[in-house]
Amino acid sequence: MTRVLSCIQPTGEVHLGNYLGALRNWVSGQDRADAFHGIVDLHALTVVDSPGVIGDDTLRLAAMLFAVGLDPDRATVFVQSHVPEHSQLSWVMECTVSFGELSRMTQFKDKSARREQDFISAGLFTYPALQAADILLYDAEEVPVGDDQRQHIEITRDIALRFNHRFGETFVVPRAVTPPAGARVMDLQEPTSKMSKSATTLAGCILMTDTADMVAKKFKRAVTDSESLVVYDPEHKPGVSNLLEILSACTGEAPSDLAGRYEQYGPLKSDCGHAVIETLAPIQERYRELLDDRGELSRLLTIGADKARRVATTTLDRAYAAIGLLPPR
Ligand code: TYM
Repeated sequence: MTRVLSCIQPTGEVHLGNYLGALRNWVSGQDRADAFHGIVDLHALTVVDSPGVIGDDTLRLAAMLFAVGLDPDRATVFVQSHVPEHSQLSWVMECTVSFGELSRMTQFKDKSARREQDFISAGLFTYPALQAADILLYDAEEVPVGDDQRQHIEITRDIALRFNHRFGETFVVPRAVTPPAGARVMDLQEPTSKMSKSATTLAGCILMTDTADMVAKKFKRAVTDSESLVVYDPEHKPGVSNLLEILSACTGEAPSDLAGRYEQYGPLKSDCGHAVIETLAPIQERYRELLDDRGELSRLLTIGADKARRVATTTLDRAYAAIGLLPPR
């Protein structure tokens, strides 16, 4: 059975980009693969610095993952800090990746530029090593992610190949899997930037918990262009193409086919809003129910961590043995 792994950070609220780019694929993956999904709280430490917030964010994110359809009986959902092997293998990864490779990571360049006057942790720089550990610990063949994670999966592949070359076949070399539509959902106000939890305003970001009213308003005010011509052309018409792509991800029809049906932007925006509202409604209902029972969420995460650890310890032992570290007696 194919092994699938992917993770999400518990920073801020889950948005439509996370859902269409990644989470939806996670849910379909659990039917045909052995799926592992981590809430990567240690990754969030690279930018989180206030105490007492991250635990609650972790629990809310767990509720959202189950609400979108991850089934605890089929998929293993766990919290990264509950599986210490992630931190342990991360050090090995840091010693297998070069300073130059990490320096070329666009996420580090972007995030450190945005925090210019602020504290930039060394963790922000070594972040891809921890991500490589997340993936390689589970012998994952497929990593379902949005387009923005491609570079991180590429570096993970390079690390796995280098380690295998140095120490013998140890790690499975993974590949990124992105969806046909929704792999890069753009900000509705700034359609040349990806939809992101860290955007300065939420006007262009659809949160999974937004009310129907908010969703409709955000689509109504979405930035397009002055042409009034509905065609799918991401390079020249990013705003309209983003709307077509979102509608495509919700309906399963190709963006260029959908474009042929509209002569004006108004109806496209309102159909887009409706499709998203319909997609979100059942998820929001389940999310509210799940959040009411935090004890049950914690219990499910404990079961997930136990399952994850069984796999992770085996891989870590294999990596340590391949290197030739002296085993404890
Ligand atoms: P994160 O938490 O930023 O995002 C979680 C997932 O959502 C996808 N995504 C998007 N997809 C389409 N359009 C968007 N606008 C958009 N924004 C986010 C991301 O591609 C991702 O799949 N580094 C990772 C977390 C991570 C990880 C891993 C992922 C840590 N270890 C191991 C995979 C495997 C991150 O920050 O994702």
